[in-house]
Amino acid sequence: MMTRASKDTLTIALPKGRVMKQALKIFAKIGIEPLENMEESRKLIFDDKKNGLRFLVVKPTDVPTYVEYGAADIGVAGKDVLMEQERDVYEPLDLKIGRCRMMVAEPAALSAKDDPSQWTSIRIATKYPNITEKFFASKGVQVEMIKLYGSIELAPLIGLAERIVDLVETGETLKQNGLVEVEEIMKITSRLIVNRASLKIKGARIAEIIEGLRKEVEGS
Ligand code: PRP
Repeated sequence: MMTRASKDTLTIALPKGRVMKQALKIFAKIGIEPLENMEESRKLIFDDKKNGLRFLVVKPTDVPTYVEYGAADIGVAGKDVLMEQERDVYEPLDLKIGRCRMMVAEPAALSAKDDPSQWTSIRIATKYPNITEKFFASKGVQVEMIKLYGSIELAPLIGLAERIVDLVETGETLKQNGLVEVEEIMKITSRLIVNRASLKIKGARIAEIIEGLRKEVEGS
């Protein structure tokens, strides 16, 4: 099986999951789309040799890695992932999809008697230890970090940590688990990211994509 793409191929890493549909939609608007339905297939590579395109299905947290190493020329990654990992990629455009917020949350019962301005030392469960560390360091709050990989909202319910830092989109997960938002750390959207070498080697083609997407985003 041939896996290496030629210099004439543009490889695009798309995040598997919630943002995939919106990402495919915005690329389709500028005429860049896979030949097959990527969401229904279990394949991970989708080639369109005629148009010199290759799409990769990548775990959202791995998109910046593929792009930094040039395994993909461009990709779609959440600002959460980019801030957490600080990888060396070019980030030319906010695609304004995958909108959510990064929040500090805690059980409603705790929140009723809690005063965040009085926090000096707290324990936080999160997928985002670097963002959490920076946010609380700037406020002079010491954090004991419990790194988790998913189902973060479970942690306060069984006493693993009193509080969490996690993404909130509709708020439904917090609500169904008796948690409330305490503080917003930042607003999140998905960004177009580009490998720095590809930007030079495939400059004209990538510039056209960036400008095409920019027009779509600004017009929407
Ligand atoms: C994300 C996030 C929250 C939830 C927020 O989790 O970590 O748990 O979505 O969405 P809502 O506000 O619309 O309920 P995801 O589904 O990606 O799974 P995870 O538990 O693996 O992080």
